[in-house]
Amino acid sequence: MSSWTHRHVLDLAAFSLQDYVTVLELAQRFRAMPTSGARKLPALQGRLMTTLFFEPSTRTRSSFELAARRLSADVQSFSPASSSLSKGESLLDTVRTYVAMGADLLVVRHRCTGVPQSLAEALDASGERVAVLNAGDGQHSHPSQGLLDLFTLARHFCPEAPTPAALQGKRIVIVGDVLHSRVARSNLWGLTACGADVVLCGPPTLLPEGFAAFVAAPPPGQPLDPVPQRGRVWIERRLERALPGADAVMTLRLQKERMQQQLLTSLETYHRHYGLTHERLELCGQAVPVLHPGPVNRGVEIDGHLLDDPAVSLVEEQVRNGIPIRMALLFLLAAAEKG
Ligand code: NCD
Repeated sequence: MSSWTHRHVLDLAAFSLQDYVTVLELAQRFRAMPTSGARKLPALQGRLMTTLFFEPSTRTRSSFELAARRLSADVQSFSPASSSLSKGESLLDTVRTYVAMGADLLVVRHRCTGVPQSLAEALDASGERVAVLNAGDGQHSHPSQGLLDLFTLARHFCPEAPTPAALQGKRIVIVGDVLHSRVARSNLWGLTACGADVVLCGPPTLLPEGFAAFVAAPPPGQPLDPVPQRGRVWIERRLERALPGADAVMTLRLQKERMQQQLLTSLETYHRHYGLTHERLELCGQAVPVLHPGPVNRGVEIDGHLLDDPAVSLVEEQVRNGIPIRMALLFLLAAAEKG
């Protein structure tokens, strides 16, 4: 754990391979804790985690809150609708109010790229010791989701030792609305760091040609990529060509709320070309698991029967794994703050 240097978790672009090892090892230990009876650890006793979600969330917010409670932290939740933001208070002033109340860990989701990072910089500049966790900013980054997806895949490929090495050489297909997906971007950093190859699949309007180079350049704002050698990334437009040889398939929600113009002819056409079904999955040539970060549009990006098939779908497992992953992040940041 001594190699952990992050004071905030904002973007997986900043993670080294050792960071993934640290988080997954810790998550695996937390995952082994009983889920009933005495299920709390005292690690974060006396600490306060505040969730500030300026965008809707079903899974991420409750998962962070549960994770914090399992570590005995106090939890406070901010609701934008009933806050003084509607009276014209600035975002930073709102956040400072929660810091003044004693928040040690701020979990932030915002529809604009860069908000968690700007808040972290502003709070650092004024000497606050609070840690910021990005719970999703615009189309940019969703690090805890990327990590829980990695953990889910590592547990699937190597249940006895779910480390990043379990992903080495695997071929993961990510299909759908990649353009608008912060989950896809975080997964690209995470999967390639662990040595997996990623095949991106989707229509040109939802997956621009240049996207395959996303992890080829050093991360924005960093002179060097902390991962010396990454897996490869390429684009296959047709799902029939992307699936053969895949080891796992991740499908993404069509993010209609982020589309500023008409990018699809119809949902039916999209489903016909890119929707996952049991029949389509047979093209992989072996039994492969399916992941989806949720929320799901049943019958659009994935067939309802496939989503509900426990032999194939890891969707509920992703939700379960989100808790130990977030426990690991909160634990590491709280320890870094102390040190
Ligand atoms: C995603 C998100 O909000 O980025 N969901 C999640 O956090 N599990 C993906 C989405 O909204 O489609």
